[in-house]
Order: sequence, then structure tokens, then C-alpha cells
Amino acid sequence: MALFPDSVKKVLVTGGAGFIGGAVIRRLLKNTSLQIYNLDKMGYASDLTSIDQVIKLMGIDGYGRHELIKVNLVDAKATGIAVAKADPDLVIHLAAESHVDRSISTPLQFIESNIIGTFNILQSLAKHWEKLPIDRRKRFRMIHISTDEVFGSLPPQGQFSECSPYDPRSPYSASKAASDHLVKSWFHTFGFPVITTNCSNNYGPWQFPEKLIPMVIMKAIKNKEIPIYGDGQNIRDWLFVEDHVDALLAVSAEGEIGRSYCIGGINEISNKKVVELICSILDEQRPKPSPYSRLIQFVPDRPGHDRRYSINPKRICKELAWKPKYEFNKGLQDTVHWYLNNLDWCESIMCKSNYKGERIGLQ
Ligand code: NAD
Ligand code: DAU
Repeated sequence: MALFPDSVKKVLVTGGAGFIGGAVIRRLLKNTSLQIYNLDKMGYASDLTSIDQVIKLMGIDGYGRHELIKVNLVDAKATGIAVAKADPDLVIHLAAESHVDRSISTPLQFIESNIIGTFNILQSLAKHWEKLPIDRRKRFRMIHISTDEVFGSLPPQGQFSECSPYDPRSPYSASKAASDHLVKSWFHTFGFPVITTNCSNNYGPWQFPEKLIPMVIMKAIKNKEIPIYGDGQNIRDWLFVEDHVDALLAVSAEGEIGRSYCIGGINEISNKKVVELICSILDEQRPKPSPYSRLIQFVPDRPGHDRRYSINPKRICKELAWKPKYEFNKGLQDTVHWYLNNLDWCESIMCKSNYKGERIGLQ
């Protein structure tokens, strides 16, 4: 069954050179015949290797279907030109500064990209949408990708849902919350067709090695200290990135305009447990004389560290028949396996962005 009606021909993915955006584009290439425009500023975490690999494998079916538009959303004029060029029927807006620790060190970039950037793309898209012929205007939609972090930090009990009040606590989550409010206001005030998603922590191949899971793998392989912030009892709700892509495509195809959908892995695990699991997988996949867990060190906590996230994904499960397919242990084993086979990629993207694995965000 086709994912989208025939009237949907062109998709604009913002942030498509990042971790989740890359997974979305790879899937769109493989499972649809859409023309894909990838608007990205090509920041430190950006890379097109994974997309290029898929295009190469697809041969004639992939060639010419993906175009990078290198634009920074902070530039309103360039954003307008990019939107006019892409002339999209569907927009999947992922572009954002995404790392909490960096938002502590360099908050201005988060305010600019996540708030001003979202404002600029909204302005450009609203103009584009108003001018579309009626049939395309009716089908047009923008999916705004947000995070569970906008809801704040949970006590040991309870879950986030679409009804949870906003309570962001880091510059990153505050900037994402602001962008959520902007897109919702464009819906209510201008009738602009937007849907918001709030997802929990993603993991999987091609993630920049500053985030917990790839960072642990890289530190372990290099025989370096594996830093766990605080007491390691902070809890995240991990979701394999391909499950997130399934959810985003379901929302793009069938989601209700003006609504938001919470997406999560139903998979709460403490950071200490995640790190220990990675170490034991490495013990099996790349054995060393002593266990990798000997490298674990508890280090000073992240300022304002949210204690627990947990998503109740009932709405998307019930209304859009989505559910996570990947079991965490298997997803993690596959992810570790992927990193061990792609250490060159990790080294090259870290080198390209001048990131050496140092601690970020201690103010
Ligand atoms: P990422 O950092 O890997 O990729 C983000 C991409 O956006 C990068 O390629 C970057 O260059 C681009 N970008 C940033 N600012 C831009 C700007 N001003 N103009 C143009 N491009 C810009 O991040 P990710 O993990 O792929 O996250 C993608 C989106 O999903 C973000 O909006 C993030 O808030 C959200 N999200 C991420 C997770 C997660 O666990 N990674 C979970 C929930 C939601
Ligand atoms: O919850 C969704 C969010 O998940 C997304 O919106 C963000 O874009 C994404 O980066 C992620 O944010 P986190 O802060 O949860 O991810 P990170 O991988 O940085 O950290 C995961 C947990 O691991 C967090 O509790 C902090 C901890 N941690 C992280 C690093 C980098 C450590 O203990 N040590 C570390 O060195």
C-alpha cells in the first residue's frame, strides 16, 4: 500500500543530514517515489554518507531523488528561497541543535536554530501554503519533530502524554518548547496545517558520538574512561531510530492536523544499566582480557540533569496503529555491531567537526 496519496510528490526534510533526518531520508528513498529536498546547514553533526550509500545501492531508482539545499534556517531570505525551490507537499522539520550538553555551553546557537529557525521556516512555509492550488493546499502538512524533554523531569512514577504541561529545564528543551509553541500558534492563528511529535531518546547507527550510546562505545574501544553523570540512576526511555521513522511516516500519512503525538519506546532504563549492557555486549563482540565495565567512572552531574523521562504512546498506538518493533537488547547489540564495523566513519566525523570526545556542558 502506498504511504502517501499520488498528489504528494515532493518532501522537504529539514535536518536531513543529521542522525534521525538521515534515517527518514533513507526510508523515503527506499519506500516511496517522492522527490526529496534536504535542507541542512551542514553543522558539526551532519553527514551524507548514509544517504549516499543508499542512493548508490538503489542505482537508477535512487539517482536524482535527493537534493541537499545547504541553508541555515537562521537566514530568513535563504530559507524562503529554499522553500520556493523545494515547492513541497510535505515538510518533516527535524533541523535543530540537539545536544543538551552543548546547550549548556553555547545556548545562543540553540535559541537561534531552534526558535528563530523554526519561526523562519514557518513564515516561509505559510506563504508557500497560501499560494498552493486548492488540492495541494488541502493535502499539505508540516510535521514538527520535538522531544519528550519539553515536559521536564518525572518523579519515579507517572508518564508524559500529550496532555502533560510544558516544563522545560535546559536551554535545549526550552528552545524546543518555544518551537512547539510557535508551530501550535501558527495552526491556531493562521490555520497552518502542522502536527507536532514529542519523542524519547533515539539510538541506532549513524549517531554522532557525543550522545550516550555511541560515546560509550567509542570510549570503550579506545580504552578510555566511560563517564556516567551523577549516580547513573537517571532514566531514559530508549527507542530504536527506525521505530521513530515508522512513527513519523505514520503521522505524516494519517496524523490529525493540529494534534500532537507522543512517541516512546516503552523502554525505561537507567543510564548505569545502559552503559553496563553496552560493556557486556562489547565483552562478547570484541573480547579483551578484562571486562570493559572496568572503564566506568561516575563523574560530576550534568547541571539541571532531568531525572526521569517516560512516554505514554497510547494515542499514536491506538489512532495510527504504531508500535515499537525493536526489542532494546537486540537493537543495542545491532547498534554496537554497527559501530564496531564503522569506526572509520566515527573517527572521520569527529575529526571533521574537531570533536575529540571531551566533556561538554559543565558551564
Ligand atoms: P542531529 O544533531 O543529529 O541533527 C540535526 C541536524 O539539523 C544537523 O544536520 C544540523 O546541521 C541541522 N541543523 C541544526 N540547526 C540548523 C539550522 N539552523 N539550519 C539548518 N539545519 C540545521 O539531531 P537528531 O538527533 O537527528 O535530532 C533531529 C531532531 O529530532 C531534532 O529536532 C531533535 O530535537 C529531535 N529529537 C531528537 C531525539 C534524539 O534522541 N536524538 C529525540 C527526540 C527528538
Ligand atoms: O529525550 C530525548 C532527547 O534525548 C532528545 O531530545 C535530544 O536531542 C537527545 O540528545 C537526547 O537527550 P539526552 O540528554 O537524554 O541524551 P544524551 O545522549 O546526551 O544523554 C543520555 C543520558 O546519558 C542523560 O541522562 C545524560 C547521560 N550521559 C550522557 C553523556 C553524553 C552520561 O551519563 N554521560 C555522558 O557522557
